[in-house]
Amino acid sequence: MANHLRVIRTVPPLRRALEHYRKQHERIALVPTMGALHRGHMALVREARRRAKRVVVSVFVNPTQFAPHEDFASYPRSFATDVKVLREAKVDLVWAPSVEVMYPNGFATRLAPDGAAKVGLEDEFRPHFFGGVATVVAKLFTQVSPDFALFGQKDYQQLRVVTQMARDLDLPVKVIGIPTAREPDGLALSSRNAYLSSAERAVAPMLHRVLRQCATRIKNGEKIDHVINVGRIEIDVAGFVLDYLEARHALTLAPIASPKDGPIRLLVAARLGKTRLIDNIAV
Ligand code: PAJ
Repeated sequence: MANHLRVIRTVPPLRRALEHYRKQHERIALVPTMGALHRGHMALVREARRRAKRVVVSVFVNPTQFAPHEDFASYPRSFATDVKVLREAKVDLVWAPSVEVMYPNGFATRLAPDGAAKVGLEDEFRPHFFGGVATVVAKLFTQVSPDFALFGQKDYQQLRVVTQMARDLDLPVKVIGIPTAREPDGLALSSRNAYLSSAERAVAPMLHRVLRQCATRIKNGEKIDHVINVGRIEIDVAGFVLDYLEARHALTLAPIASPKDGPIRLLVAARLGKTRLIDNIAV
């Protein structure tokens, strides 16, 4: 089985491969990625394997979710290594379209997600981001028509947006969120961690430490506003440029003032030098 992995780059052969699985009544799980795979992605793949006979991993660095000033051109790419790792993980199919296949000349449709996509978190700092994510994920769901799709809680707002998009468009896919894989010091694994200098890498775990301290203090009954304000100062003092640290309702991502209105999710984004890090935890 180990070397049965297929790499497919255009829609017609993808359709044929998937039809073959469906004829045999095999369930299909999809793991959408932008490549540069790490242990976090592979936790999604493992869960996909548990859920379905056939696992499809898409590898596509999606230009429509990057703003012109962002890192699309320099985003880490390691396709040959990714394919090797996916083969070892017994993935059936790697769906790796080119930009021209995903967005042919004349492509003119873009989803405009609302709700969790418009709550003043990532959307505030990356206004184009969720439109690009929702559009490409809707395309991936239509192309692959999976029974299950696995997403990381690491990108928590994205998980909420994609879940809602699938529901709103009546796509028959179950979206599943997987806990964040971390380094031993707590830093959430991310393809962008590769950008960190060694000095920045030493500071980076502070983000998760502050989240945990905030969660503990809220659980112990301290006022949310106060706890968040202290957390913001700690992140600032550690040397980050803070984009946001917020306590939100875990499902709607609406602002939340008291634990009785929960469940609460704490979400943070901060920049360390050129690198933007995000993280979140449940309270
Ligand atoms: P990418 O950043 O490659 O992430 C692919 C998937 O891996 C996402 O669902 C993300 O949440 C998950 N992931 C990343 N780091 C993780 C970690 N440390 N632990 C657990 N899961 C983790 O997110 C995207 O790509 C794109 O926006 C995409 C959904 C593919 C659309 O282009």
